[in-house]
Amino acid sequence: VWTAGNFIHNEIEKIREQVGDKKVLCALSGGVDSSVVAVLLNEAIGKNLTCVFVNNGLLRKNEAEQVVKTFRDNFNINLIFVDAEEEFLKALRGVTDPEKKRKIIGNLFIKIFEREAEKLGRFDFLAQGTLYPDVIESVSFKGPSATIKTHHNVGGLPEKMNFKLIEPLRELFKDEVRQVGLELGLPEDIVYRHPFPGPGLAIRVIGDITKERLDILREADSIAIEEIKKAGLYREIWQAFTVLLPVKSVGVMGDERTYEHVLAFRAVTSLDGMTADWAKIPYDVLARISNRIINEVKGINRVVYDISSKPPATIEWE
Ligand code: XMP
Repeated sequence: VWTAGNFIHNEIEKIREQVGDKKVLCALSGGVDSSVVAVLLNEAIGKNLTCVFVNNGLLRKNEAEQVVKTFRDNFNINLIFVDAEEEFLKALRGVTDPEKKRKIIGNLFIKIFEREAEKLGRFDFLAQGTLYPDVIESVSFKGPSATIKTHHNVGGLPEKMNFKLIEPLRELFKDEVRQVGLELGLPEDIVYRHPFPGPGLAIRVIGDITKERLDILREADSIAIEEIKKAGLYREIWQAFTVLLPVKSVGVMGDERTYEHVLAFRAVTSLDGMTADWAKIPYDVLARISNRIINEVKGINRVVYDISSKPPATIEWE
């Protein structure tokens, strides 16, 4: 029978045999797949592994700090932290088309990753968190964003850079990856984290992306997720997140008229992201989310709940 323990044991052997004393590079995103790959590789080859984490400025609140803390401090992994926030925001300035956003982010990520790899010197292997569904391509993305999925898994890099690939998870499904993650001692926070798109919050700030808008969205998002977790709903929901709309609406705060952003809250249940239902979240939880966001986040005076299922809507708004 398949157990996480056996899997880890066998993979460590295989990796050691394949790699010997050569060097492996791994792009860490902070998502469960690349996190499991990083920790597994670390167990197998320790200091011959180097992970690169790129902060693109499009991550959720405290996410970059958490990744550094988990992998560098707790797991003692060789981690290169690249702060590319300004570079990404500059490249995205004035861009509103969703597919253009994806393309810019994907290409810039590859450019930055290559730049870091060159600085580091000779690497023979690239480790990736490709899963079985990625291999059989059962997960589909909107139109040209298919290329971004490859970007997400750093596809495109191996051919260009002459890497041999290490893909220890390529026969696993998500639930198995989660078991392996737990067995390797990864925190539940990472193991059960909702899927997060490669382009990050860039496709959740509808329209123009600015640091200010990203910060508003990050605050709102962290409140929504906190309340979903408090209500014990986080694990049964496939994805929950907020979307900042380029629409302002009138409100009233004390005696003052306000004119601020509208925020959409989205939560869906799903098995694989291919189809999804809007989550039937209890009204009191929705009420807390809305009240807290409007009271605590400057710049938002109205919250709406997205009650569209996929199809015909998609999970993300862009
Ligand atoms: P949609 O919005 O197409 O999303 O229903 C299905 C799943 O894919 C994620 N998603 C992406 N993931 N790069 C990614 O890595 C992308 O460009 C992208 N677009 C959507 C989405 O979060 C959901 O889990």
